[in-house]
Amino acid sequence: MSKKSEVLITGRDKEELRAIEAVLRAMAMVSPKIRLVSNGHVDPLYGIHSMPDMLVLCLSANWREELQELSARSLASRPPVVIVAQSGDPQVMRLAMQAGARDFFTRPINLQELVATLGQMVDEKKADVQSKSGLSAVINAKGGAGATLIAANLAHVMAIKADQRIALVDMDLQFGTLGMYLDLQPERGVMDALEAANELDAVAIKAYMGKHASGVEVMAATHTHVVLPGEVDAGRLDRLLDVLLGSYDHVVVDLPRHIDIVTTTVLERASKVVIAMQQSFTHLRDANRLCSILSDEFGIAHQQMVLAVNRYEANNPVAISDISNRLAGIGIALVPNDYKRVCENVNLGIPLYEQSSKAPITQALVKLADQLSGQEQVCKKPGLMSRMLETIKNA
Ligand SMILES: Nc1ncnc2c1ncn2[C@@H]1O[C@H](COP(=O)(O)OP(=O)(O)O)[C@@H](O)[C@H]1O
Ligand SMILES: [Mg+2]
Repeated sequence: MSKKSEVLITGRDKEELRAIEAVLRAMAMVSPKIRLVSNGHVDPLYGIHSMPDMLVLCLSANWREELQELSARSLASRPPVVIVAQSGDPQVMRLAMQAGARDFFTRPINLQELVATLGQMVDEKKADVQSKSGLSAVINAKGGAGATLIAANLAHVMAIKADQRIALVDMDLQFGTLGMYLDLQPERGVMDALEAANELDAVAIKAYMGKHASGVEVMAATHTHVVLPGEVDAGRLDRLLDVLLGSYDHVVVDLPRHIDIVTTTVLERASKVVIAMQQSFTHLRDANRLCSILSDEFGIAHQQMVLAVNRYEANNPVAISDISNRLAGIGIALVPNDYKRVCENVNLGIPLYEQSSKAPITQALVKLADQLSGQEQVCKKPGLMSRMLETIKNA
């Protein structure tokens, strides 16, 4: 985690980019790179495949288009940005805010202040990475609601989009098939890892994980024998979760829907719980009951829960307003119905993002991944933003 933060400085004025690069070179934790835009593209991140950690965007006369292009990207596909503009025109500032700007400088740039801002952003990123090491549990309100599909694809999207070390764990020890969604069948899995729990560390745990090309690592439920209730030792499971949380940025756990020692131990460690449900009255009733159990028995706050309404259809008689009225205060994510792509995922093990990154079902999971890894909150951090608002008010 002590790697330098990559800062991309982009714009159309070579001298300006060089001057900024020169001061950033002196910062210990920053590795600056410049990108001189000289063609007709207005998207500041056009053609960039490996996202920098931060962006310094020096706006040109096309500032409106440049900022609009940046805003059009999903939160996960744009880095925190600092804007350099010709003037503090309220319109520019408003668009900059919409693009998620963390600070705003007018020319001539106060380079010392720019260094201070980037230093602060590096510190925040470090703290953020540490606090982001969380556990998202995915559980269904009713069998077949889509928990496993969501868990597998969430973890896959997180590994690709957020460039994080992601572990995906199948805790459905009797019937789990999570590995199939990523075409992985590791020889060893959860039960073997539990047996070795006391000797596990960040290196030893790799022997129990299957690695997917996207980077996501899967601990599967292997089926050498039937796992009976009571066969899993809570202390060992706790230890396994400790090692997973200490070795990965985020752990996604697919849970079966019983309240037993396994689900209880995992839910007690969960920072977020995704409840998969579909639009029917029985799902709604069961989701309501499950959410009550999560909050009353496990002390999980409504803000930590997300209801994933799977196989969503706008014309379903059970409307989203029915769900939000019944389960007030819990965030809702809509995951559309997509029979063809889901079949390909289940039968061939090709994750949705690999099939089509732009499909509505994939985009819904990208959005859910953003929500869970807390990037939304990061981009909305106050401080620098309130300074901008202050400037607008005084303009
Ligand atoms: N969004 C979707 N669109 C189409 N079919 C889906 C969708 N989500 C799930 N399915 C179907 O439902 C089945 C059950 O999903 P699964 O993730 O195994 O549910 P759970 O883990 O909640 O029991 C899948 O195999 C798939 O055929
Ligand atoms: Mg399942």
